[in-house]
Amino acid sequence: MNNNAVRTVRAWEALDSRGLPTVGCKVTLAGGGQGRAIVPAGKSKGSHEARERRDGGERYGGRGARQAVAAVNDVLAGAVTGLDAEDQSELDATMEKVDGDPRLANLGANAVLGVSLATALAFADQSGLPLWRALAGDGPPLLPRPMVNVVSGGAHAEGRGAHSRRTIDIQDVLVVPLGATSFAQCLEWAWRVREAAAELLARAGVPSGLVADEGGVAGWLTTNEAAISTVADALQVAGLVPGQDVGIAIDLAANQFYGDGTYNLALEDERLSPAEWLERVSQWCNRYPVVSLEDVLHEDDWPNWGEASRRLGQGRQLIGDDLFATDLARLKRGLSSGVANAVLVKPDQAGTLSRSAAVLKAAQAGGYATVVSARSGDTEDYWLADLAVGWRAGQVKVGSTQRSERTAKWNRLLEIEADAAGRAELWWHA
Ligand code: PGA
Ligand code: ZN
Repeated sequence: MNNNAVRTVRAWEALDSRGLPTVGCKVTLAGGGQGRAIVPAGKSKGSHEARERRDGGERYGGRGARQAVAAVNDVLAGAVTGLDAEDQSELDATMEKVDGDPRLANLGANAVLGVSLATALAFADQSGLPLWRALAGDGPPLLPRPMVNVVSGGAHAEGRGAHSRRTIDIQDVLVVPLGATSFAQCLEWAWRVREAAAELLARAGVPSGLVADEGGVAGWLTTNEAAISTVADALQVAGLVPGQDVGIAIDLAANQFYGDGTYNLALEDERLSPAEWLERVSQWCNRYPVVSLEDVLHEDDWPNWGEASRRLGQGRQLIGDDLFATDLARLKRGLSSGVANAVLVKPDQAGTLSRSAAVLKAAQAGGYATVVSARSGDTEDYWLADLAVGWRAGQVKVGSTQRSERTAKWNRLLEIEADAAGRAELWWHA
């Protein structure tokens, strides 16, 4: 009997960091290896993502995951039992076939991903290796440079406004510790900037305890630009050289404020044409050390994405999140038309580990940067950190320096770096 053969698969309904139901899944192998994973969920989701299955009805306001759990226990378990856990692509292809829908809408991407992840973890356990090592093979680990959330708005700070005070339209203002020489130093610098930004905002009357879904400060501000200028000021207060020690990254998440062909900033009460919006973003890039922009435009605004790539992508990272949706066909369209120059890789957007790895590899082969990313509704699991190292992604985006579903991933990366005892490499040494 092959020790790596899948012996049991069992799912249950768990909760994510927003307190919403999700799928927990445990896989055991014939040789005794075990893997357990809980599936994350987004809030500012793109429409091209794999489809998570939700129950509807009364329970949890319709967001229950019992049907997805049943899809694992009653359908997928039977389909994958006996398969070789070492052959992730066969396992994932089998589940895709059983589902039958390209976006996994029948069984649910949340069901399929639970099995995909738990099996990868079970195989690593059976092999006596951490997941990152099982994926990366020999050699020192490549730690990803983190992109760390400082101030948040949009869907991630929904409902955090008060009276006449409102949160910003753009989703996240983050920092990238470009000049740090270890992962641990990256985190300490990011922490310093977050502390300084929270202090600056507190002086302006924004309660620093008011955090958004990913642990950034839910900024009450009068303009969107103020969120960026606050982070730029915080870099100075923290004693870090803007653009050299630390750069600013912005996830505009433009899907969220796009409508009827215009980009609509509620805070400023402005409706901007795509050209006006790109001009606005370009001004922000000229005023502040912005090294990375994510989802600067709506997910299907391809013509303007081409223009944005020419205009803003020189010497700056331009990431497609909702744009590419961790989908190979969409990424290929971007690669062939020179749209964006980096891709966010979110396993739950794809629905399987094999699909996620294929997107990451195609991006790397095409010269695009890769950022492995958590979701705004995440969990205490840390497999994402292992994926970022194991796939040699180079970058990771997990949220801020607080809230345990975020620190679980940071702590895992700190552990991998510490275990490597000075032999770990950090991507993109400045
Ligand atoms: P989401 O947001 O997980 O709510 O989709 C994360 C992101 O936009 O990067
Ligand atoms: Zn995003």
